[in-house]
Amino acid sequence: MPAEAPSSTELLELLVEPHTGSPLHLVAGPPPRLESESGRAYPVDGGVARFVAADALPAEQAATGDTFSTKWARVDTFGHDAATRDFHHRWYLERYGWPDEAAFAAFLGQQARVLDAGCGVGRDVAWYLAHAPGLVAGVDISTAVDAAARNVGAHPRLLLAQADLANLPFPPGFFDYVACDQVLHHTFDPRASFDHLVSRVRPGGVLAFYVYKVKGPLREFADDHLRSLATRMPEAEALRLSEALTRFGQALTEQRLTMEVPVAIPELGISAGRFDVQRWLYWNVFKCFYNADWDWETNVMTNYDWYRPVTAYRYRPEEIREWIAAAGLEILHEDVGDAGLSYRCRKPTH
Ligand SMILES: C[S@@+](CC[C@H](N)C(=O)[O-])C[C@H]1O[C@@H](n2cnc3c(N)ncnc32)[C@H](O)[C@@H]1O
Repeated sequence: MPAEAPSSTELLELLVEPHTGSPLHLVAGPPPRLESESGRAYPVDGGVARFVAADALPAEQAATGDTFSTKWARVDTFGHDAATRDFHHRWYLERYGWPDEAAFAAFLGQQARVLDAGCGVGRDVAWYLAHAPGLVAGVDISTAVDAAARNVGAHPRLLLAQADLANLPFPPGFFDYVACDQVLHHTFDPRASFDHLVSRVRPGGVLAFYVYKVKGPLREFADDHLRSLATRMPEAEALRLSEALTRFGQALTEQRLTMEVPVAIPELGISAGRFDVQRWLYWNVFKCFYNADWDWETNVMTNYDWYRPVTAYRYRPEEIREWIAAAGLEILHEDVGDAGLSYRCRKPTH
């Protein structure tokens, strides 16, 4: 727990009861809690408001939350060191269509209320606080919020909550900018979660999100197979599998082998060209992530993050464009990458 509570009383009382939208009042305690008009209480622990325990989560969503609680406890400062932070910031800017950090900072400078929906250990919360002038809220279903609180530290404009982004403790139209990076596909019903997030963006506000993309058939087959095993096995076995995948990726990366694919095989999603063998297997056959700039545990947790969560859906661009059109949003930027689909959208003003 952080030495100082990260969320002030004033900010905590901006929260509302998720199911009813009723206002919440902070009771100093002990124990400190937010109480609704009906007398229902939500704990405030370490300055972080907790809505998850009081919610009846679907079993699959609770299991995914537990997986991320485990992951983030093992790599609890991920994205706060120079190597992982710079990698992710560059990737974020590229995917959401920002030419450079200055352009994104100028945008954030106009956003009074920002939400990081599924904030993990707070890498982007810290980034948003550095550039946005007002409230920055971070919500995650897992205990990663505690690591986010430690990593970001006490800040007068920070509000953290452990909550389901499909049932947020904020009123409709509350945020100017909502970012949901690499999270929606892990929710129980991603389409419903998307619609819920849209409802929390103010008219004229912006929503940026990334979801996993459907990959080639060999990779999808191996992913389905490994997921069906990894989601059911005991924790120690899932860690062993994640380590084996990482060792495989590491060994091939270090061998620096290349290969020539003479002609494309579109039926298998295979392109022609010269490829690094590890990268080729990674994209076409199974996830065997390895990045030599990252420590071993972070590499292992990246493979664990792919195969262990029970809820992990993949999408085609047409499906996501249909969600966006049905919600009446305008696409400001679309990025169809090898791994996922990123969108920056604006909600109409009326
Ligand atoms: C792959 S991590 C991404 C974290 C962060 N956005 C980032 O870019 O580093 C996915 C996160 O989504 C969170 N998550 C999954 N389902 C959620 C839900 N229904 N509500 C809120 N957070 C959720 C997990 O706990 C996890 O921290």
